[in-house]
Amino acid sequence: MAGTFWALPGDKSISHRALILAALGEGRSVMHGLLTSADVQSTASVLRALGAPVPDHLDGACAIDGSGLRGLRGLRAPGVPLDCGNSGTTARLMAGVLAGAGLEATLIGDASLSARPMRRVADPLSAMGAAVALPPHRGLPMRVRGGPLHGITWHQAVPSAQVKSAVLLAGLLGGVPVEVHEPLATRDHTERMLRARGVDVRTEAGVVTLHPAARLDALESTIPGDASSAAFLLAAAALGAAPELALEGVGVNPGRIGGFQVLRQMGATVRFEAPGETGGEPVATVVGGPGALRGVVIAPEEVPALIDELPVLACVAARAEGETRVTGAGELRVKESDRIRLVVENLRAIGAEAEELPDGFVVRGSDRPLRGTVRTGGDHRIAMAFGVLGAVPGNAITVDDPSCVGVSWPTFWDVLAHVRR
Ligand code: S3P
Repeated sequence: MAGTFWALPGDKSISHRALILAALGEGRSVMHGLLTSADVQSTASVLRALGAPVPDHLDGACAIDGSGLRGLRGLRAPGVPLDCGNSGTTARLMAGVLAGAGLEATLIGDASLSARPMRRVADPLSAMGAAVALPPHRGLPMRVRGGPLHGITWHQAVPSAQVKSAVLLAGLLGGVPVEVHEPLATRDHTERMLRARGVDVRTEAGVVTLHPAARLDALESTIPGDASSAAFLLAAAALGAAPELALEGVGVNPGRIGGFQVLRQMGATVRFEAPGETGGEPVATVVGGPGALRGVVIAPEEVPALIDELPVLACVAARAEGETRVTGAGELRVKESDRIRLVVENLRAIGAEAEELPDGFVVRGSDRPLRGTVRTGGDHRIAMAFGVLGAVPGNAITVDDPSCVGVSWPTFWDVLAHVRR
């Protein structure tokens, strides 16, 4: 029986989508356990700037009276650029909303987000009939002018749940059918959440199809605990930095639990108890504990289900026996930072053995003490990954910018201090 029970912050991917779908639903939606981190605040403030009645405080049971799909005149083009902060999910999903709702606006963000690739979302939305203008480096600012759209069959070059979701939202709001072909399955929160709200969305053999919907139902739902946040605590338990932990109400969507499976493969304890469901999403109590850790090979087809967990898995690998090798993860270079470069540079800076591959990395584990300062590049997952490694007895790691965890888990350092041995 696990010692510590911990309720995790709400899932980030699901919180963004819950706000957007509540704003577009028919009547009152209520969300319990919404994440209130900086990234989710970016989606909330972009929705507010478009005239959606999103409350100023998102805490507790957050209620939104949606405009309904036919009430989109409730939304208006903003007079100012829409600031997405550090949040790629906000920029890409809201581009789909603007396109489908027939609105014109410019999406902007911080320096990190402005450098991230937006052509992947501009291309399908343009192909549907929206006008999308990008700067020469194909990042932000991105100007979107929506309008009457037509249906589309889109073959994704890079597997991306954000791009898939943008196309689905554009189709939903534009009242046109869309079909998205995925080379590898990505997280399917948008599909599940649309189905839970009465929309006909099907997935078969790597193809996601949305049929035009007359309405989007309002829904009262509880947001599952964030599986990606859970991975940091499971890693701490795996490394012996925390006692055995039981994390309640964690989302265990198959598209999100690749990191849990790898921790188990590495020899850690990770098991699911008390399975349930909320808002179309599977949840469970996830129990994590230590084990004799060994290196693993992570193959390209495993990557979408653990893409956000790779920094912390690399840190666990630094303490595992033998080599861990990751390939097919070139997308890590265009996240909140170049995560391949920063993971490897930082592991070396603290005395671990690691090397970059063009599309991944190799880490060779040891049990020598790891000490030094790591550079986060303002990336929350780099900060938390090295925070966990620093919590291992004998290690002493300073994170240069601890406050950057605020985009996904503002109370992370308090929680880590609390669960630490
Ligand atoms: C997300 C999808 C993933 C993930 C990101 C959140 C989402 O990005 O890395 O943290 O909410 O849809 P991609 O769509 O670029 O794969």
